[in-house]
Amino acid sequence: MGVNQGYRSFLSYVTLPSQSFGESGIITHKTVVMEKRVYIETYGCQMNEHDTERILRLLAGSHYLETKDAQEADLILINTCSVREKPEHKVYSALGRYKWLKEKRGAIIGVAGCVAQQEGDRLLDRVPYLDMVIGTHAIPMLPQLLQKIEFFGQRICETGFDPEGNYLKTILPQKPLDKVKSYVTIMQGCDHFCSYCIVPYVRGREKSRSSREIIEEVRHLAEMGVKEIFLLGQNVNSYGKGLEEEINFPKLLRRINEIEGLQRIRFTTSHPKDLSEELIQAFSKLPKLCEHIHLPFQSGSDKILKAMHRGYTKDSYLEKIDRLKEVCPFIAVTSDVIVGFPGEEEKDFEETLDLIRKVRFDDLFSFKYSPRKGTRAAQFTDKVEEKVKQDRLSILQEIQGGITLQKNQEIEGRVEEVLVEGWSKQSEKDITGRTRTNKIVNFEGDLELVGKLVPVQITKAYPHSLRGEIVPTHCRLQDVDCGVKSSEILT
Ligand code: 5AD
Ligand code: SF4
Repeated sequence: MGVNQGYRSFLSYVTLPSQSFGESGIITHKTVVMEKRVYIETYGCQMNEHDTERILRLLAGSHYLETKDAQEADLILINTCSVREKPEHKVYSALGRYKWLKEKRGAIIGVAGCVAQQEGDRLLDRVPYLDMVIGTHAIPMLPQLLQKIEFFGQRICETGFDPEGNYLKTILPQKPLDKVKSYVTIMQGCDHFCSYCIVPYVRGREKSRSSREIIEEVRHLAEMGVKEIFLLGQNVNSYGKGLEEEINFPKLLRRINEIEGLQRIRFTTSHPKDLSEELIQAFSKLPKLCEHIHLPFQSGSDKILKAMHRGYTKDSYLEKIDRLKEVCPFIAVTSDVIVGFPGEEEKDFEETLDLIRKVRFDDLFSFKYSPRKGTRAAQFTDKVEEKVKQDRLSILQEIQGGITLQKNQEIEGRVEEVLVEGWSKQSEKDITGRTRTNKIVNFEGDLELVGKLVPVQITKAYPHSLRGEIVPTHCRLQDVDCGVKSSEILT
C-alpha cells in the first residue's frame, strides 16, 4: 500500500445534490472530486529536487496537481536548503512574495526542507501567515497535516526525526517528471559530522533503504521508459550500514546493473574516506555505470582537512584519484572545494591549488566558507576575512576554468555515446544530451531521438558544453572507439 493511501483530503470531496431524484423523492448525492493546485519552489541540491518530486507524487493522491504558476496555487511550498549562504533570508523573502496570495486566495503556505528542520517554530512565530513547517523526515505526513490545516485551521510544525526511516518510503511514480532520467534515493543523512556541515543536523543520521525497495523502484522506472537513474544519498558509499541484509553499495550497483531496459547508472555523493577498492573496480566491471565520479575534496591542506574532520589527507585523496584513473582511464572527476575555512593561510590555499592542478578535475564546485549555526566550525575564532575569501575564490575559479576548458578540448574529435534528453536551450535546431562522463553535448537532430543512445563526434569544446555531429549509421562501428564501455548499445 502506498504511504499516502487513506490520507485523502476530506475537502477534496464535495458532495453535491444529484440532478436526478430517487423514486422516494429523496435527493441522492454524487461525489465530485475537486482538484487543487500546488506550487513548489525548490532550492538546493539534487536531494531537494527529488524531495519535491516525491511531494508532488504524494500530493497527487490528495488531488493536488502541480502548477508552475504560483498565482493559481491553493498550496504553496518552499522547499529549502541551508547548506550554504544565507538560506533564512531567501526563505523570508520568498514568503514575503506569496503573502498576498494568502490574503487574496487563502492559499495554504508551507516551508519544507533543511531550513524548516532547523528553524522549526521560529518560522511560525516570525511569519503569522505561514501555515506549516515540514521537516526533512515529515514528508510522508504531508497529506495528514494538510487535513489538519484545511479542517481545523491549525498551524503546524512537524520537525521530529523518524528513526524507523519511513520518510525514505516513496510512491512509485505513475509518470516520471523526466522520462529519460530519474533520481532514486538510496540513503539519507550523514554520520560524518564534518565540522563545517549542517547536513547531519538537518537530515539526521545515515539511514539506508532496503535493496528490495530500491530495485523495485528502478525496475518500475525502467519499465516506464527511464534510461538513466541517478542514485542519491549524502554518502552513498556507506549504503547498507544498519540494514539486516548483507549488502553494500557496490553490491547494490551490481544488482541495479542487471535491470533490463536501464542503460545508465550514476550516483552522488561519495566521501573520499569511504571510497573502497570494490567501488573503484565497479567502474571497470559494470557496463551501465557511467564513467563519472563526484568526489568532494574540500581542501588540499592537511591542516585544514583535519580541522574540517574529513578523515583523509591530500596524499590519500590523490592516491584514490590515481587508482580511479588506473582502473578507468576515461573517468571524469568532479569535486567540491571550500575556500576561507577558519585558519586557512596562504600556504594552505596553495596546497588546494596544487591539488587542483594535479587532479585536473573535469569540473569543480567552489564555495566560500560560510559558518552554519550549530556546527563546530562556527565556534572557530581564526576567521578568514571576506575579501581574502573572495580573492581566493576568484583565483581558484580562474585556474579551474582553464582546466575545464582544456579537459573539454581533449575530447574534440572523439566519438561519445550521448543519451538524448530533448531540445537544446541554445538553438531551436539542436537537441541536447549528456555523455557517459556527464558532459552536455548539443547537436543537430530531431526529437525522435529522445531517450536513445547515439554516437556523436565532438567537433568543438566550450567551457560548459560540447558541440557535436551525429555519426552517420554506416561509419558507426569502426569509429566508436572512445574508450568507454558502450558501443554495443548504440541505436
Ligand atoms: N560553507 C561553505 N560550503 C559548504 N559546503 C557545505 N557546508 C558548507 C559551508 N558551511 C559545501 C561543501 C559540500 C557542498 C555540498 O557544499 O563543499 O561538499
Ligand atoms: Fe556534510 Fe561531511 Fe556528511 Fe558530506 S560527509 S554531508 S560534508 S557532514
